[in-house]
Amino acid sequence: MALVEDGMLLGLGTGSTAWFATEAVGRRVREEGLRVTGVATSVATEQHAASLGIQLTGLADVAALDLAIDGADEVERDTLRLIKGLGGALLREKMVAQAARRFVVVGDPSKVVERLGAHVPLPVEVTRFAHEATARRLAGRPVLRVGKDGAPYVTDNGNFIYDCFDLGPQFDPGALHLALCGVAGVVGHGLFLDGVEQAIIGQPDGSVQVLRPGIG
Ligand code: A5P
Repeated sequence: MALVEDGMLLGLGTGSTAWFATEAVGRRVREEGLRVTGVATSVATEQHAASLGIQLTGLADVAALDLAIDGADEVERDTLRLIKGLGGALLREKMVAQAARRFVVVGDPSKVVERLGAHVPLPVEVTRFAHEATARRLAGRPVLRVGKDGAPYVTDNGNFIYDCFDLGPQFDPGALHLALCGVAGVVGHGLFLDGVEQAIIGQPDGSVQVLRPGIG
């Protein structure tokens, strides 16, 4: 929260970790009179931030954000490349991150990996139209994400998500990014390959470890 300054346009992330960041912003708004305007990365975050009294605007209405804070599913230690999207908000999260001058990730030690793909599948958001055909052109073992009711999970953008398991030890994030961008029907994917300024990793003892790209 020390990075958040009065007057900032602030990207608000999605997920259980980002939830705490949004809570802390709300606390500073209430207790210190902090004036910030948030841009939410999901409908859930928008509702949460609004309930805390954080002023909000849309990404369409701002040229750039001063700072975006978000969680991640995996953070690659040396590069700060990420996998995001287990929470389903990957597309809006990437749009907000790309609009931010500074993009900061928050997480716990379980998120830090030596190589991406160690623990989680890669989420890929696809159009509902002929999603089965798109899935055949994805990587690894794509599995359609379903909700508790067994019906396909639908993103805030009205799309489906395939979680790509078993990307394999030779998985090259840069090459996969390019390949996925070439597949019609893919709306977005959860590889965030650049732009993270720092990853703030909370430790069980309450201290924090700050990772920066190239330093680890
Ligand atoms: C949301 O779509 C994701 O990208 C989240 O940032 C990610 O899943 C981290 O969520 P947690 O903080 O709940 O682990």
